[in-house]
Amino acid sequence: MTTLLTNIGELTTNDGPALHDAAVLIDGDLISWVGPAVQAPSADEIVDAGGRAVIPGFVDSHSHLVFGGDRAAEFEARMAGQKYAAGGIRSTVAATRTATDDELRARLRGFIEELQAQGTTTVEIKSGYGLSVDDEARLVRIAAEVTPEVTFLGAHVVPADYADRSDEYVDLVTGPMLDVCAPHAKWIDVFCETGAFTVEQSRRVLEAGIARGLAPRMHASQLGPGEGVRLAVELGAASVDHGTYLTDDDVYALAASDTVLTLLPGVEFSTRQPYPDARRLIDAGVTVALACDTNPGSSFTSSMPFCIAVAVRDMGMTPTEAVWAATAGGAAALRRDDVGVIAPGKRADLVLLKAPTHIHLAYRPGVPLVERVWKDGVAVS
Ligand code: NIG
Ligand code: FE
Repeated sequence: MTTLLTNIGELTTNDGPALHDAAVLIDGDLISWVGPAVQAPSADEIVDAGGRAVIPGFVDSHSHLVFGGDRAAEFEARMAGQKYAAGGIRSTVAATRTATDDELRARLRGFIEELQAQGTTTVEIKSGYGLSVDDEARLVRIAAEVTPEVTFLGAHVVPADYADRSDEYVDLVTGPMLDVCAPHAKWIDVFCETGAFTVEQSRRVLEAGIARGLAPRMHASQLGPGEGVRLAVELGAASVDHGTYLTDDDVYALAASDTVLTLLPGVEFSTRQPYPDARRLIDAGVTVALACDTNPGSSFTSSMPFCIAVAVRDMGMTPTEAVWAATAGGAAALRRDDVGVIAPGKRADLVLLKAPTHIHLAYRPGVPLVERVWKDGVAVS
């Protein structure tokens, strides 16, 4: 089955400059041809883009979608002046432990539909709201039902039952918990931050994961500066995420590495923290990705268009840089070269916008501009 998406006014390929009056041929689950509409080959089905813009499907490289409960009251208190703290994670842990697998699964599937409707075609999902051997195991298993990009985040926070015994909790994470979770995960992550795990504990967690064949990524410098970013770079992490408080040394280390810095604008928005300066990072040569960090505590948006708008308005990115960061940047953060780009041989993950140019994603914030979405060549929205 072939589908020709033609009469595209602006085609962002991430494989060279944008094309105008372009067409894309989808053959099964892959893209098989990209070029000027006038030269397009024939196909079983023709879709007329009506002169509107097409971009790669968003690659959201950071989310926490398997959880129970809700923290709307915590958000409301923050908007009234209360500070965000890592400890809030524990209330979601309690709600997640009491939810059944089917409840978690149904909610997860709802989130996947919500993401796809907003143009996201690849999503990474972390565990981290179970924090016991059995609960983390069910979270990674449920996540693996909907994505290959599963991250074991047993080291999200020290659970209440291990209060004041954080090293013993790290023993559990790097021992029995890793044993049951590693077969279902691709990545290992740790929240390296005051109130969560120290840099020494973070090293233990990531090195244990690496020894089990998982690839490292990290949450760091969300609530204040620290040594996490440099540890992530030293260990060859694919990405270090948040980076709200980066030192010059962090920026130099990132620029000299192939570790991506993933910015999460939804977090600054809903914790009232200062927005990180993406311009400083890009100008220094750091590869920057954008992700939603969908979770009930620090960022309960699943909208990549919203994150793009904030990154442009408040973080110094151009619309073109922001769309790149949300597509090819996310792919780099997941070490994937088959998504985030529109070119022959790549996955047919495409978004048709209800707009003449990708600039509208920032120019028209909050407006549902995603018209149609293809994932693996299938229209999903
Ligand atoms: O990425 N920083 C740590 N983890 C999540 C927040 C989780 C929560 O507050 O429930 C994050 O922001
Ligand atoms: Fe996170």
